[in-house]
Amino acid sequence: MSEDIVISVRGLRSAFGPHVVHENLDLDVRRGEILGIVGGSGTGKTVLLNSILGLKKPDGGEILLDGQRLSELSSSERRKVDSRWGVLFQNGALFTSLSVMENVMAPLREHVDMSVPLMEEIASMKIGLSGLDASAGSRFPSELSGGMRKRAALARALALDPDILFLDEPTAGLDPIGAAAFDSLILELSRALGLTVVMITHDLDSLYEICDRVAVLADKKVEAVAPIRELLNHPHPWIHEYFQGPRGRAALAGKGS
Ligand SMILES: Nc1ncnc2c1ncn2[C@@H]1O[C@H](COP(=O)(O)OP(=O)(O)O)[C@@H](O)[C@H]1O
Ligand SMILES: [Mg+2]
Repeated sequence: MSEDIVISVRGLRSAFGPHVVHENLDLDVRRGEILGIVGGSGTGKTVLLNSILGLKKPDGGEILLDGQRLSELSSSERRKVDSRWGVLFQNGALFTSLSVMENVMAPLREHVDMSVPLMEEIASMKIGLSGLDASAGSRFPSELSGGMRKRAALARALALDPDILFLDEPTAGLDPIGAAAFDSLILELSRALGLTVVMITHDLDSLYEICDRVAVLADKKVEAVAPIRELLNHPHPWIHEYFQGPRGRAALAGKGS
């Protein structure tokens, strides 16, 4: 296996009873890239993420991290792997009864043995990295705007210094300015921290602005994966409509090309 591949999905089959979501799905994630994942609603983007994370057991195929089959990990190896990635789930649920600081400390409490002051120091740093004011730490999720909640969830995802970050529709529900600001933050952090980022999104602007490559889910598999400009004239009907339909063309026009 080539050394710059961090995650490899091979022949993945995912099903819920008779309902097959993925069949023979292959995908490679390159180290250090920002990979966008797009696809119609219900095509299995979130299920793919959950399969990689070990939250849904594959019904066939293999997922490898640095060449190691995840299905063969012992539970202690599994815990180590779980601390290598940070996740911002779709609808990025923070614990509503905990302050932002407590939310960001939660993964530290679970995975590492350290004093409370040290955890607070690390959490404050992640809150700052995520572009929130230090004072946000003492606030509760209900007191934050949508954009600030995403940032708090991002701070929590970064708590354990992951080298891989998964984002499931992170800019959904943000206004275009908030979404663009969040995109720039992801780009900056990925470069500064050397993160590999896998981002499920519907946001064409995000795809143009920050994604190195885009994987398209269609017909139960990854139908195409390439830099976005190489996908613009792809013959698959959904891909064609996505990039050449009115929204796709408007996003491209916004890039001045
Ligand atoms: N826990 C579940 N039980 C049964 N079906 C599910 C479950 N989770 C997802 N599905 C089905 O799998 C398909 C893909 O879902 P999902 O990955 O959430 O789509 P999306 O691409 O919109 O993220 C959908 O048809 C959905 O109904
Ligand atoms: Mg989803």
